Amino acid sequence: MKVVVVGSGALGGAVQQVLAEHGYEVLTVGRTSGMFRADLSDRASLDALFAKLGSVDAVANAAGDVFPAPLPQTTDDHWTKSFAAKGMGQINLVRAGLPFIADNGSFTLVSGVLGDEVAPACTVGATVNRLVEGFVQAAASELPRGVRINCVSPTVLTESPAYYDFFPGFTPVPALEVAHAYLRAIANPITGRILKLHKTNA
Ligand SMILES: NC(=O)c1ccc[n+]([C@@H]2O[C@H](COP(=O)([O-])OP(=O)(O)OC[C@H]3O[C@@H](n4cnc5c(N)ncnc54)[C@H](OP(=O)(O)O)[C@@H]3O)[C@@H](O)[C@H]2O)c1
Repeated sequence: MKVVVVGSGALGGAVQQVLAEHGYEVLTVGRTSGMFRADLSDRASLDALFAKLGSVDAVANAAGDVFPAPLPQTTDDHWTKSFAAKGMGQINLVRAGLPFIADNGSFTLVSGVLGDEVAPACTVGATVNRLVEGFVQAAASELPRGVRINCVSPTVLTESPAYYDFFPGFTPVPALEVAHAYLRAIANPITGRILKLHKTNA
């Protein structure tokens, strides 16, 4: 099974590791890193990526920046860059990849705990995460040929201490635990699901 993984950072590295450990052939993608170059914000680069890769069994995204700020201080830049990368970028990854994904293949996107929980300066992140989750839940009903789509929603990662101040009182989740949710989305016949690793029961 050939799986494209976009992003090789805190989350993407763990996703690549878990998929490789479970026998998948992992093709890594980034703007400056990975085996292949593409930018989620640049639709033409996504088209060029899939033209180069040809048929694949699954596409998993672990990339897409968000540019947060306290709501009164947000600029057009905060909103447009966040939508372009994590929002429209992931939607375009699916649109560009659809002609190349195998029958019964899958897309796995990423949102985050801010779709459900309030934290300081959370509005940009919350809005983008809900956009992605809304796309996944609706697109699941429209994808042809048995193609599936799911979304993984992590809380702040243990491996990302730089973000801890933005998530006071949130219990971090190890990236490997989140990576197993990607494996669950790819390996099981589920679609339209938001797999949440929020650790917010306390
Ligand atoms: N870290 C957390 O605590 C956390 C929690 C919840 C959700 N998330 C979400 O998980 C995703 C990954 O987060 P992370 O912390 O793993 O990020 P990260 O450590 O900064 O790594 C991001 C990776 O994605 C690639 N990338 C970034 N923007 C890209 C783009 N526009 N097109 C293609 N590749 C791109 C980067 O490589 P290049 O620079 O080479 O492109 C890098 O390999 C993000 O969507 C984030 O919002 C993260």
